[in-house]
Amino acid sequence: MKFRYQCLDCGKIIETDEIIYTCPNCGGTEKPGEFPKGYLRVLLDEKELSELKKKDHVSIYDFFPYDVPNKDVYPVGITPIVRPQRINKALGLKNMYCKMDAYLPSGSFKDRASQLIAAQAMAHKVNKIALASTGNAGAAMSCAGAAYGLDIILFVPETAPINKLMQSVLYGATVVPVKGTYDDAFLLSIEYTKHFGGINRNTAYNPMTIEGKKSVSIELFEQLGRKIPDMVYVPVGDGCIISGVYKGFYDLMKAGLTDHIPQIVCCQSVKSNAISQAFKTGKFTNIEASTRADSISVDCPASGRMAVKYLKDYNGKCVEVSEQEILDAQMTLVHDSGIFVEPASATAFAALKKDLPNIDKNADICLLLTGIGFKDMAVFDGRVSLPASIENSAEAVIKRFS
Ligand SMILES: Cc1ncc(COP(=O)(O)O)c(C=O)c1O
Repeated sequence: MKFRYQCLDCGKIIETDEIIYTCPNCGGTEKPGEFPKGYLRVLLDEKELSELKKKDHVSIYDFFPYDVPNKDVYPVGITPIVRPQRINKALGLKNMYCKMDAYLPSGSFKDRASQLIAAQAMAHKVNKIALASTGNAGAAMSCAGAAYGLDIILFVPETAPINKLMQSVLYGATVVPVKGTYDDAFLLSIEYTKHFGGINRNTAYNPMTIEGKKSVSIELFEQLGRKIPDMVYVPVGDGCIISGVYKGFYDLMKAGLTDHIPQIVCCQSVKSNAISQAFKTGKFTNIEASTRADSISVDCPASGRMAVKYLKDYNGKCVEVSEQEILDAQMTLVHDSGIFVEPASATAFAALKKDLPNIDKNADICLLLTGIGFKDMAVFDGRVSLPASIENSAEAVIKRFS
Protein backbone atom coordinates (compact mmCIF):
# COMPACT_ATOMS: atom_id res chain seq x y z
CA MET A 1 0.00 0.00 0.00
CA LYS A 2 1.31 3.48 -0.90
CA PHE A 3 1.01 6.29 1.59
CA ARG A 4 0.84 9.95 0.61
CA TYR A 5 2.51 12.67 2.65
CA GLN A 6 2.55 16.43 2.29
CA CYS A 7 5.29 18.69 3.57
CA LEU A 8 3.58 21.67 5.16
CA ASP A 9 6.74 23.78 4.75
CA CYS A 10 7.59 23.39 1.05
CA GLY A 11 4.40 21.71 -0.16
CA LYS A 12 6.13 18.64 -1.63
CA ILE A 13 3.93 15.56 -1.99
CA ILE A 14 5.64 12.24 -1.34
CA GLU A 15 4.24 8.82 -2.19
CA THR A 16 5.93 5.82 -0.66
CA ASP A 17 5.27 2.54 1.08
CA GLU A 18 8.53 2.87 3.05
CA ILE A 19 8.64 4.36 6.56
CA ILE A 20 9.45 8.03 6.10
CA TYR A 21 10.30 10.77 8.59
CA THR A 22 11.02 14.26 7.26
CA CYS A 23 10.66 15.89 3.83
CA PRO A 24 13.52 14.87 1.48
CA ASN A 25 13.28 18.33 -0.11
CA CYS A 26 13.42 20.76 2.83
CA GLY A 27 13.93 18.63 5.98
CA GLY A 28 16.96 19.90 7.89
CA THR A 29 17.34 23.10 5.85
CA GLU A 30 16.30 25.37 8.72
CA LYS A 31 18.82 27.96 9.91
CA PRO A 32 20.69 27.20 13.17
CA GLY A 33 18.57 28.21 16.17
CA GLU A 34 15.28 27.82 14.30
CA PHE A 35 12.44 25.29 14.54
CA PRO A 36 13.07 22.22 12.36
CA LYS A 37 11.62 22.15 8.85
CA GLY A 38 10.09 19.44 6.76
CA TYR A 39 7.70 17.63 9.07
CA LEU A 40 5.03 15.78 7.14
CA ARG A 41 1.26 15.48 7.14
CA VAL A 42 -0.27 12.13 6.16
CA LEU A 43 -2.84 12.51 3.36
CA LEU A 44 -5.72 10.07 3.30
CA ASP A 45 -7.52 9.02 0.15
CA GLU A 46 -10.19 11.67 -0.36
CA LYS A 47 -12.60 9.28 -2.07
CA GLU A 48 -12.39 6.80 0.81
CA LEU A 49 -12.84 9.66 3.27
CA SER A 50 -15.96 10.93 1.53
CA GLU A 51 -17.48 7.41 1.74
CA LEU A 52 -17.42 7.78 5.54
CA LYS A 53 -20.14 10.42 5.27
CA LYS A 54 -22.62 7.63 4.52
CA LYS A 55 -21.99 5.86 7.84
CA ASP A 56 -24.23 6.51 10.87
CA HIS A 57 -21.19 6.31 13.13
CA VAL A 58 -17.50 6.58 12.49
CA SER A 59 -14.69 5.13 14.55
CA ILE A 60 -11.17 6.46 14.92
CA TYR A 61 -9.99 3.36 13.06
CA ASP A 62 -11.90 4.45 9.93
CA PHE A 63 -9.38 7.30 9.73
CA PHE A 64 -6.15 5.40 10.49
CA PRO A 65 -3.62 4.60 7.75
CA TYR A 66 -2.66 1.31 9.45
CA ASP A 67 -4.92 -1.39 10.86
CA VAL A 68 -4.52 -1.72 14.60
CA PRO A 69 -4.37 -5.44 15.42
CA ASN A 70 -5.89 -6.85 18.61
CA LYS A 71 -7.18 -3.56 19.96
CA ASP A 72 -8.08 -5.12 23.32
CA VAL A 73 -4.39 -5.83 23.97
CA TYR A 74 -3.75 -2.12 24.39
CA PRO A 75 -7.12 -0.35 24.43
CA VAL A 76 -6.78 3.34 23.57
CA GLY A 77 -9.93 5.49 23.88
CA ILE A 78 -12.81 6.10 24.30
CA THR A 79 -11.90 8.45 27.14
CA PRO A 80 -14.67 9.96 29.26
CA ILE A 81 -15.93 13.52 29.14
CA VAL A 82 -16.19 15.09 32.59
CA ARG A 83 -18.41 18.12 33.15
CA PRO A 84 -17.03 19.93 36.21
CA GLN A 85 -20.22 21.60 37.44
CA ARG A 86 -18.74 23.44 40.41
CA ILE A 87 -16.06 25.04 38.25
CA ASN A 88 -18.52 25.92 35.49
CA LYS A 89 -20.73 27.63 38.06
CA ALA A 90 -17.83 29.51 39.63
CA LEU A 91 -16.60 30.77 36.24
CA GLY A 92 -20.06 31.46 34.83
CA LEU A 93 -19.55 28.98 31.99
CA LYS A 94 -22.50 27.15 30.47
CA ASN A 95 -20.85 24.16 28.90
CA MET A 96 -17.17 23.61 29.61
CA TYR A 97 -16.13 19.96 29.70
CA CYS A 98 -12.90 18.04 30.04
CA LYS A 99 -11.76 15.31 27.66
CA MET A 100 -10.03 12.97 30.07
CA ASP A 101 -7.09 11.59 28.13
CA ALA A 102 -5.27 11.37 31.43
CA TYR A 103 -7.26 8.12 31.83
CA LEU A 104 -5.63 6.30 28.91
CA PRO A 105 -3.68 3.06 29.68
CA SER A 106 -0.36 4.67 30.62
CA GLY A 107 -1.99 7.79 32.08
CA SER A 108 -1.44 10.22 29.22
CA PHE A 109 -2.62 11.30 25.80
CA LYS A 110 0.57 9.79 24.34
CA ASP A 111 -1.07 6.37 24.17
CA ARG A 112 -2.93 7.63 21.09
CA ALA A 113 0.30 8.02 19.10
CA SER A 114 1.89 4.91 20.57
CA GLN A 115 -1.00 2.71 19.47
CA LEU A 116 -0.57 3.73 15.83
CA ILE A 117 3.25 3.49 15.98
CA ALA A 118 2.93 -0.04 17.39
CA ALA A 119 0.60 -0.82 14.46
CA GLN A 120 3.12 0.70 12.04
CA ALA A 121 5.92 -1.43 13.50
CA MET A 122 3.88 -4.61 13.29
CA ALA A 123 2.75 -3.84 9.71
CA HIS A 124 6.41 -3.40 8.67
CA LYS A 125 7.50 -6.42 10.74
CA VAL A 126 9.90 -4.29 12.81
CA ASN A 127 10.25 -5.26 16.46
CA LYS A 128 12.24 -2.32 17.80
CA ILE A 129 11.10 1.26 18.42
CA ALA A 130 13.34 4.06 19.69
CA LEU A 131 12.24 7.45 20.90
CA ALA A 132 12.98 10.48 23.01
CA SER A 133 10.47 11.73 25.52
CA THR A 134 9.93 14.17 28.35
CA GLY A 135 8.44 11.12 30.08
CA ASN A 136 4.89 10.49 28.92
CA ALA A 137 5.51 9.46 25.31
CA GLY A 138 8.16 7.09 26.63
CA ALA A 139 5.80 5.59 29.21
CA ALA A 140 3.08 5.22 26.57
CA MET A 141 5.36 3.56 24.02
CA SER A 142 6.76 1.29 26.73
CA CYS A 143 3.24 0.33 27.76
CA ALA A 144 2.41 -0.54 24.13
CA GLY A 145 5.71 -2.43 23.93
CA ALA A 146 4.81 -4.51 26.97
CA ALA A 147 1.35 -5.19 25.57
CA TYR A 148 2.44 -6.24 22.06
CA GLY A 149 5.91 -7.60 22.83
CA LEU A 150 7.97 -4.86 21.13
CA ASP A 151 11.43 -3.67 22.21
CA ILE A 152 11.43 -0.03 23.28
CA ILE A 153 14.60 2.06 23.55
CA LEU A 154 13.86 5.26 25.39
CA PHE A 155 16.02 8.38 25.70
CA VAL A 156 14.84 10.77 28.43
CA PRO A 157 16.30 13.80 30.21
CA GLU A 158 17.55 12.49 33.56
CA THR A 159 15.50 15.22 35.25
CA ALA A 160 12.16 13.76 34.07
CA PRO A 161 9.78 13.00 36.97
CA ILE A 162 10.78 9.75 38.61
CA ASN A 163 7.30 8.22 38.31
CA LYS A 164 7.36 8.59 34.53
CA LEU A 165 10.82 6.98 34.32
CA MET A 166 9.88 4.18 36.72
CA GLN A 167 6.76 3.46 34.69
CA SER A 168 8.88 2.87 31.59
CA VAL A 169 11.37 0.70 33.49
CA LEU A 170 8.48 -1.35 34.89
CA TYR A 171 6.97 -1.83 31.42
CA GLY A 172 10.32 -3.35 30.43
CA ALA A 173 11.75 -0.64 28.17
CA THR A 174 15.48 0.00 27.85
CA VAL A 175 15.61 3.42 29.51
CA VAL A 176 18.56 5.69 28.73
CA PRO A 177 18.57 8.80 30.97
CA VAL A 178 20.46 11.63 29.27
CA LYS A 179 22.48 14.33 30.99
CA GLY A 180 20.80 17.00 28.90
CA THR A 181 17.45 18.35 27.83
CA TYR A 182 14.57 16.72 26.01
CA ASP A 183 15.86 18.32 22.82
CA ASP A 184 19.25 16.63 23.37
CA ALA A 185 17.52 13.28 23.95
CA PHE A 186 15.57 13.82 20.70
CA LEU A 187 18.77 14.05 18.65
CA LEU A 188 20.38 11.10 20.44
CA SER A 189 17.42 8.85 19.71
CA ILE A 190 17.76 9.70 16.00
CA GLU A 191 21.46 8.78 16.23
CA TYR A 192 20.39 5.49 17.79
CA THR A 193 18.04 4.52 14.94
CA LYS A 194 20.60 5.59 12.33
CA HIS A 195 23.15 3.21 13.87
CA PHE A 196 21.06 0.38 15.23
CA GLY A 197 17.85 0.41 13.16
CA GLY A 198 14.26 0.10 14.31
CA ILE A 199 11.45 2.61 13.91
CA ASN A 200 11.91 6.08 15.39
CA ARG A 201 8.76 7.29 17.17
CA ASN A 202 9.92 10.79 17.97
CA THR A 203 7.04 13.12 18.29
CA ALA A 204 6.10 14.71 14.92
CA TYR A 205 9.39 13.45 13.38
CA ASN A 206 7.49 10.25 12.67
CA PRO A 207 4.34 11.62 10.94
CA MET A 208 2.30 8.71 12.27
CA THR A 209 2.48 10.24 15.77
CA ILE A 210 0.31 13.15 14.63
CA GLU A 211 -1.91 10.70 12.80
CA GLY A 212 -2.47 8.69 16.00
CA LYS A 213 -3.13 11.81 18.05
CA LYS A 214 -5.85 13.03 15.68
CA SER A 215 -8.10 10.27 17.02
CA VAL A 216 -9.16 12.50 19.92
CA SER A 217 -11.04 14.88 17.60
CA ILE A 218 -12.86 12.04 15.85
CA GLU A 219 -13.78 10.51 19.18
CA LEU A 220 -15.07 13.86 20.46
CA PHE A 221 -17.20 14.29 17.34
CA GLU A 222 -19.00 10.99 18.01
CA GLN A 223 -19.20 11.49 21.78
CA LEU A 224 -20.84 14.89 21.36
CA GLY A 225 -23.54 13.43 19.12
CA ARG A 226 -21.78 14.16 15.80
CA LYS A 227 -20.98 17.73 16.75
CA ILE A 228 -17.72 19.53 17.35
CA PRO A 229 -16.96 21.93 20.23
CA ASP A 230 -16.74 25.69 19.65
CA MET A 231 -13.34 25.89 21.31
CA VAL A 232 -10.64 23.40 22.38
CA TYR A 233 -7.89 24.37 24.86
CA VAL A 234 -4.75 22.28 24.28
CA PRO A 235 -1.54 22.25 26.37
CA VAL A 236 1.41 22.69 24.02
CA GLY A 237 5.13 21.93 24.07
CA ASP A 238 6.39 20.39 20.81
CA GLY A 239 3.09 21.18 19.10
CA CYS A 240 2.44 17.59 18.09
CA ILE A 241 -0.75 17.12 20.12
CA ILE A 242 -2.27 20.35 18.83
CA SER A 243 -1.30 19.43 15.25
CA GLY A 244 -2.98 16.05 15.82
CA VAL A 245 -6.12 17.71 17.16
CA TYR A 246 -6.23 19.89 14.05
CA LYS A 247 -5.57 16.91 11.76
CA GLY A 248 -8.55 15.05 13.24
CA PHE A 249 -10.91 17.94 12.56
CA TYR A 250 -9.28 18.45 9.15
CA ASP A 251 -9.99 14.82 8.20
CA LEU A 252 -13.55 15.12 9.49
CA MET A 253 -13.94 18.16 7.26
CA LYS A 254 -12.45 16.33 4.26
CA ALA A 255 -14.93 13.53 4.93
CA GLY A 256 -17.79 16.04 4.82
CA LEU A 257 -18.72 15.29 8.44
CA THR A 258 -18.15 18.87 9.60
CA ASP A 259 -17.96 22.09 7.62
CA HIS A 260 -15.53 23.90 9.91
CA ILE A 261 -12.81 23.47 12.52
CA PRO A 262 -13.26 24.68 16.13
CA GLN A 263 -11.25 27.57 17.47
CA ILE A 264 -8.23 25.85 18.99
CA VAL A 265 -6.27 27.55 21.73
CA CYS A 266 -2.55 26.86 22.09
CA CYS A 267 -1.86 26.95 25.85
CA GLN A 268 1.77 27.48 26.93
CA SER A 269 3.77 28.53 29.95
CA VAL A 270 5.50 31.91 29.66
CA LYS A 271 8.61 29.86 30.43
CA SER A 272 8.11 27.57 27.44
CA ASN A 273 6.41 29.67 24.82
CA ALA A 274 8.26 28.99 21.56
CA ILE A 275 5.14 28.29 19.51
CA SER A 276 3.11 31.12 20.97
CA GLN A 277 5.94 33.56 20.23
CA ALA A 278 6.34 32.24 16.69
CA PHE A 279 2.59 32.69 16.17
CA LYS A 280 2.83 36.30 17.35
CA THR A 281 6.12 37.36 15.73
CA GLY A 282 6.27 35.15 12.63
CA LYS A 283 9.82 34.12 13.64
CA PHE A 284 10.53 30.43 14.28
CA THR A 285 13.21 31.01 16.89
CA ASN A 286 14.18 28.35 19.46
CA ILE A 287 14.06 29.35 23.12
CA GLU A 288 15.45 28.13 26.44
CA ALA A 289 12.47 26.58 28.18
CA SER A 290 12.37 26.21 31.95
CA THR A 291 8.80 25.51 33.03
CA ARG A 292 7.97 23.25 35.98
CA ALA A 293 5.31 21.72 33.72
CA ASP A 294 7.97 19.30 32.44
CA SER A 295 5.88 17.72 29.68
CA ILE A 296 5.59 21.04 27.85
CA SER A 297 9.15 22.23 28.46
CA VAL A 298 10.54 22.40 24.91
CA ASP A 299 13.30 24.60 23.42
CA CYS A 300 12.95 23.59 19.81
CA PRO A 301 9.39 22.47 19.03
CA ALA A 302 9.41 19.55 16.61
CA SER A 303 5.95 20.30 15.29
CA GLY A 304 6.25 24.06 15.78
CA ARG A 305 5.95 25.15 12.17
CA MET A 306 3.01 22.85 11.53
CA ALA A 307 1.21 23.99 14.69
CA VAL A 308 1.64 27.67 13.76
CA LYS A 309 0.39 27.00 10.24
CA TYR A 310 -2.75 25.27 11.51
CA LEU A 311 -3.35 28.04 14.09
CA LYS A 312 -3.07 30.72 11.39
CA ASP A 313 -5.15 28.83 8.80
CA TYR A 314 -8.04 28.06 11.16
CA ASN A 315 -8.41 31.09 13.40
CA GLY A 316 -6.53 29.62 16.35
CA LYS A 317 -4.99 31.65 19.12
CA CYS A 318 -2.30 31.37 21.81
CA VAL A 319 -2.56 32.06 25.52
CA GLU A 320 0.50 32.14 27.77
CA VAL A 321 0.21 31.61 31.52
CA SER A 322 2.60 32.01 34.44
CA GLU A 323 4.04 29.17 36.47
CA GLN A 324 1.89 30.21 39.43
CA GLU A 325 -1.25 30.22 37.28
CA ILE A 326 -0.46 26.64 36.18
CA LEU A 327 0.04 25.40 39.74
CA ASP A 328 -3.11 27.20 40.94
CA ALA A 329 -5.11 25.73 38.06
CA GLN A 330 -3.91 22.23 38.97
CA MET A 331 -5.07 22.77 42.56
CA THR A 332 -8.48 24.15 41.54
CA LEU A 333 -9.11 21.23 39.19
CA VAL A 334 -8.32 18.59 41.79
CA HIS A 335 -10.00 20.40 44.68
CA ASP A 336 -13.14 21.69 42.98
CA SER A 337 -13.85 18.94 40.47
CA GLY A 338 -11.98 15.79 41.49
CA ILE A 339 -9.90 15.97 38.31
CA PHE A 340 -6.27 15.23 39.13
CA VAL A 341 -3.88 16.09 36.33
CA GLU A 342 -0.20 16.89 35.99
CA PRO A 343 0.93 20.53 35.62
CA ALA A 344 1.23 20.39 31.81
CA SER A 345 -2.45 19.46 31.53
CA ALA A 346 -3.48 22.10 34.04
CA THR A 347 -1.98 24.66 31.65
CA ALA A 348 -5.09 24.25 29.50
CA PHE A 349 -7.32 25.20 32.42
CA ALA A 350 -5.04 28.07 33.45
CA ALA A 351 -5.26 29.41 29.89
CA LEU A 352 -9.03 29.13 29.86
CA LYS A 353 -9.23 31.11 33.12
CA LYS A 354 -6.99 33.79 31.67
CA ASP A 355 -9.00 33.88 28.45
CA LEU A 356 -12.38 34.28 30.20
CA PRO A 357 -12.80 38.00 29.40
CA ASN A 358 -12.40 37.24 25.68
CA ILE A 359 -14.80 34.34 25.21
CA ASP A 360 -18.49 33.64 24.88
CA LYS A 361 -19.45 32.03 28.18
CA ASN A 362 -22.27 30.12 26.47
CA ALA A 363 -19.86 28.43 24.07
CA ASP A 364 -19.15 24.68 24.05
CA ILE A 365 -15.63 24.58 25.42
CA CYS A 366 -13.43 21.50 25.62
CA LEU A 367 -10.35 21.29 27.81
CA LEU A 368 -8.00 18.57 26.63
CA LEU A 369 -6.55 17.06 29.80
CA THR A 370 -3.56 15.07 28.77
CA GLY A 371 -1.74 13.57 31.76
CA ILE A 372 -2.70 12.14 35.16
CA GLY A 373 -1.56 13.89 38.36
CA PHE A 374 0.04 10.83 39.95
CA LYS A 375 2.85 11.06 37.42
CA ASP A 376 4.47 13.94 39.27
CA MET A 377 3.76 14.08 43.00
CA ALA A 378 7.00 15.98 43.67
CA VAL A 379 5.33 19.12 42.36
CA PHE A 380 3.48 19.32 45.71
CA ASP A 381 6.66 19.26 47.83
CA GLY A 382 6.59 22.20 50.22
CA ARG A 383 3.04 23.11 49.16
CA VAL A 384 0.89 20.30 50.51
CA SER A 385 1.65 17.99 53.41
CA LEU A 386 -0.13 15.22 55.26
CA PRO A 387 -1.76 16.19 58.58
CA ALA A 388 -0.18 14.90 61.80
CA SER A 389 -1.46 11.52 63.09
CA ILE A 390 -3.67 11.31 66.15
CA GLU A 391 -3.42 8.79 68.97
CA ASN A 392 -5.58 5.68 68.60
CA SER A 393 -8.20 6.77 71.14
CA ALA A 394 -11.71 8.24 71.36
CA GLU A 395 -10.32 11.15 73.36
CA ALA A 396 -7.95 12.01 70.54
CA VAL A 397 -10.85 12.18 68.05
CA ILE A 398 -12.80 14.46 70.36
CA LYS A 399 -9.77 16.65 70.95
CA ARG A 400 -9.01 16.82 67.20
CA PHE A 401 -12.50 18.06 66.27
CA SER A 402 -13.40 20.19 69.31
C1 LIG B 1 0.68 15.52 29.56
C2 LIG B 1 1.13 16.25 28.35
N1 LIG B 1 0.46 17.35 27.97
C3 LIG B 1 0.85 18.07 26.89
C4 LIG B 1 1.96 17.71 26.17
C5 LIG B 1 2.37 18.57 25.00
O1 LIG B 1 2.33 17.91 23.78
P1 LIG B 1 3.23 18.41 22.57
O2 LIG B 1 4.65 18.32 23.05
O3 LIG B 1 2.92 17.53 21.45
O4 LIG B 1 2.82 19.84 22.32
C6 LIG B 1 2.68 16.57 26.53
C7 LIG B 1 3.88 16.16 25.78
O5 LIG B 1 4.73 15.45 26.27
C8 LIG B 1 2.25 15.82 27.64
O6 LIG B 1 2.91 14.72 28.04
